[in-house]
Amino acid sequence: MKVAKTIAEMREFRQETEGTLGFVPTMGYLHDGHMSLVKMAREENQVVAVSIFVNPMQFGPREDFKSYPRDTRRDLALLEPLTDIVFMPSDKDMYPRDYDSWVEVKGLTDVLEGAVRPGHFLGVTTVVAKLFNVVQPDKAYFGQKDAQQVAVIKKMVKDLNMNLEVVTCPTLREKDGLAMSSRNTYLKRGQRQAATVLYKALMLAEELVSRGENDAGAIRLEMKEFIEKEPEANIEYISIADNATLREIHHIKLPALVSMAVKIGKTRLIDNIVLE
Ligand code: PAF
Repeated sequence: MKVAKTIAEMREFRQETEGTLGFVPTMGYLHDGHMSLVKMAREENQVVAVSIFVNPMQFGPREDFKSYPRDTRRDLALLEPLTDIVFMPSDKDMYPRDYDSWVEVKGLTDVLEGAVRPGHFLGVTTVVAKLFNVVQPDKAYFGQKDAQQVAVIKKMVKDLNMNLEVVTCPTLREKDGLAMSSRNTYLKRGQRQAATVLYKALMLAEELVSRGENDAGAIRLEMKEFIEKEPEANIEYISIADNATLREIHHIKLPALVSMAVKIGKTRLIDNIVLE
């Protein structure tokens, strides 16, 4: 496995490789969810590239950029058996002093995460466009856990005629349903149990719909009341939206995206399911 620490080294590798390249962009601190994306990339391509870059541009001023967990040595050991090249650029290489260019997807970014994290998706689409330009993948792999992120990236790729396929991979969960996330490491002992409330609330929504409940407002309310019973939990939003437009719906029309952001103590967690 090769490690490219500069854009120039990554480009050089790309120019020398033959066959299809599968790419998994990450911010490191890898867990089984990331590794399932890498495995999928390995199965579907001759060459696998993974980037590790904690992108400062997608964190708000009061968010956790500085404290975001990092463990490069462990990440590289996990990637070694499955990866041909790891791209780990520096902040300065990606955003030199005179950096001035942004890639913005409108519409889809106005709602959900975009509404409560201003500038977040501008940072995501900009860095992902830059990574695509450098790595030149044939396929790129993203997790359904960040449902809006993958929708926004697919739209960017379509609108800007980027020559690659974006593949969505299912959310990996712990045994008790908690969606895998690097941020789960922030959870203190008592909070880890409390964090299962997100998945349980999603399951509640699924059950209500399967019993014939058609009123999205009533389902949101039941989810809210259920989560509020957990003293550690603070709801940021609960959404039942059209899975294509991400706009809130009044009556259940499938496929629907049920998603939420909930703070467990100080840790902000997101999760979702698609009702088909
Ligand atoms: O999902 C992530 O880890 C990040 O948003 C991504 C896609 C690597 C861009 O920085």
